[in-house]
Amino acid sequence: MCGIVGYIGDKIAEDILVEGLSKLEYRGYDSAGIATIVEGDTIRRRQVGKLIQLRNELANSPCPGTIGIGHTRWATHGAPTQDNAHPHHHAGITVVHNGIIENHHSLREELREKGHTFSSETDTEIIAHLIGRYRGEGQDMLTALRTTLGRVEGAYAIAVLDQLDDSRIAFARKASPLIVGIGQSENFLASDIPAVLSHTRSFVFLEDGDHGFIHHGKVEIYDEHENAVERPIKTVDWSPVMAEKGGHKHFMHKEIYEQPRAIADTLRGRIQPGTLETTLSEINTEILNSIERIIVVACGTSYHAGMTGRYVIEKMARLPVQVELASEFRYRDPILNDKTLVLAISQSGETADTLAALKEAIEKGAPIMAISNVIDSAIPRLCEPSGGTLYTRAGPEIGVASTKAFTTQLVALNLLAIELASVRKTCSDKTIETAIDALTRLPREIENLLDLEDDIKAVAREYVKADNMLYLGRGSMFPIALEGALKLKEISYIHAEGYAAGEMKHGPIALIDENMPVVVIATPGLGYEKVVANLEEVKARGGKIIGVGHESDAHLKSLSEQMMPINGSEDSVSTVLASVPLQLFSYHIADLRGTDVDQPRNLAKSVTVE
Ligand code: G6P
Repeated sequence: MCGIVGYIGDKIAEDILVEGLSKLEYRGYDSAGIATIVEGDTIRRRQVGKLIQLRNELANSPCPGTIGIGHTRWATHGAPTQDNAHPHHHAGITVVHNGIIENHHSLREELREKGHTFSSETDTEIIAHLIGRYRGEGQDMLTALRTTLGRVEGAYAIAVLDQLDDSRIAFARKASPLIVGIGQSENFLASDIPAVLSHTRSFVFLEDGDHGFIHHGKVEIYDEHENAVERPIKTVDWSPVMAEKGGHKHFMHKEIYEQPRAIADTLRGRIQPGTLETTLSEINTEILNSIERIIVVACGTSYHAGMTGRYVIEKMARLPVQVELASEFRYRDPILNDKTLVLAISQSGETADTLAALKEAIEKGAPIMAISNVIDSAIPRLCEPSGGTLYTRAGPEIGVASTKAFTTQLVALNLLAIELASVRKTCSDKTIETAIDALTRLPREIENLLDLEDDIKAVAREYVKADNMLYLGRGSMFPIALEGALKLKEISYIHAEGYAAGEMKHGPIALIDENMPVVVIATPGLGYEKVVANLEEVKARGGKIIGVGHESDAHLKSLSEQMMPINGSEDSVSTVLASVPLQLFSYHIADLRGTDVDQPRNLAKSVTVE
């Protein structure tokens, strides 16, 4: 959480920093700030609230200079006030920071005793004070940086300005993401690729412990042992327009519409219709043959993807799959061995709990693998020596509520299920062929569903004033119900609960009356009759049913106040199809209620604190 940027070059830093922050706001939007150096002075502007507040201030009081750093904050230590907004400044040193300094209390006390006074409650201000103090004691910047890094415990990605030297920006990273963007006579620092994608596609992905400087024309990197190192420069194939709204009102809307493309990309080169094979070259398929079970670890929407994937993997590969919230997993001393694959699912590849769960797995000798959307992020890196990473190719997802990342995760899990089934020979050729064909048809089927947006908007209009909603599903549609409810509450602030349809009689039925809309996912296949029976029970108690099911399902239609139809395809991928109307439904309810769809209150897209 929190996003940082840095720029050094010949252009006005303010423009580049603010543009970069606008692409990082998904990481937090409690406050924003930038600082530059002009003729030995530090110029700093900070504002509480979203970036627009900072933009307004900069319109009146610009921040000149061609070197600078910026920050968008998701508050951890200290309320979202102006004093707590980054950059923090002390004795000519200015710092932006993403992460948490765990020993900041003791360091603060120590510095207080030495006469330091602090102007914020943040852990970050300690870093400015420490570097400033060591500089004041005569250490050069590199030494002062290293001495400081030796004193702080926790996670950090930092960018540091020293007003005595405007020829470089210092940086360091440990357990928080930081990349260097390489330009022509200019260089960039950023928490994530989209921040500087309109300036460069060449990036150095820093390793934990890396620190150093970006200059106009060079980058100086030292590793955790203080040795100078060359890190490879990688070219990313994301294009700058991927990080723009492209005519859509919100990123979320654009990202819902990108799903046919994102899914087609995720499938590209990995399956061929009419064949019985997958080509998943990034993962270590040998592991898949030797394991006896899989434990999926993930958070939020990615956890729901894992829950959904369990059905298809168990069905096709006959391998037991357990799905765990990463935040709970390691606190109960999980039983792992070298026959248990721990599979992390993480859009960002940097969720702190998921990362920690994988570290626990490594310690206990289990092989690990990931499904992720961000190349070279922390989770894929951790998996590199073991099972590798199956990348979803959704492109940058900026809306805080996950949409295309979720459906591409479902597709990746389907690919994994097919691979497991063919490696372990647990399925007939016919079943594999059918599964591959179903995946191949998906992009087109989603396009057809998107054509129904107006109908779904009309349904949304009916429920815009609801206070609560219940989502029901059975089998693999149960996690889709959970995800549907999560999407609604995240962006519309309507209280919504997802429930296994069969559990309705064990509690939620008590809530049902004419004021409780119930979204029921009832697709043909296993358990359909039972879901319909649950529906009758809802109906008998006056509940309003919104059916999500097959276009041709007259029975479902007759029981539902409104229908959100999904069309054809196989059971294994109907979870993907059912997700789409639910996304649009939440989107339109939220939009009609006038909430901030892309940046819902209190949330952040990357949760890098536990
Ligand atoms: C946050 C985001 C969710 C996401 C979850 C896990 O809560 O708002 O959209 O599903 O983190 O993130 P990950 O990047 O690990 O998938």
